Amino acid sequence: MIRVLFVCLGNICRSPMAEGVFAHLVNQADLATTIDVDSAGTSSWHVGEPPHPGTQRVLQQHGIALSSTARQVDQTDLQTADYIVAMDRENVRDLQRLDRHGRLNGKLHLLLDFAPAGGPRDVPDPYYDNNFDAVYRLVDGASRGLLAHIRRERGL
Ligand code: 4NP
Repeated sequence: MIRVLFVCLGNICRSPMAEGVFAHLVNQADLATTIDVDSAGTSSWHVGEPPHPGTQRVLQQHGIALSSTARQVDQTDLQTADYIVAMDRENVRDLQRLDRHGRLNGKLHLLLDFAPAGGPRDVPDPYYDNNFDAVYRLVDGASRGLLAHIRRERGL
């Protein structure tokens, strides 16, 4: 099993959206038994909560089902995930700080590094501006790039 873990700050807006979008693409590619998709937050602020209503709405509008409960990223994640995909550079810094045992080497990525060139590097946080549609477009484009990357790298 190849494990992909999306990480943001709260695990209620961006990373559950990426989890839903990416899992949908994985299903369409008939790879659901090969690629496991999950998400977590660097903070514990929203642990136990469902995705933000804005994330639920935008996924629903695109026909994507998601059941996700917010949780905080832990040491086991750093060990067991094959691809840890952060939404922004603050998440990258927080994950690097958490990585006291050097488990992250080579598996930490920034989602928008897989997006078509010319866009932003960080997924903006819709928690503050409510622009879930713009986030969806960024996440969707980069998720396609990420899946292509994993398929190439793993020969799938
Ligand atoms: P997320 O968004 O990291 O995309 O889930 C946020 C959710 C909550 C907060 C910040 C960002 N907050 O400050 O509580």
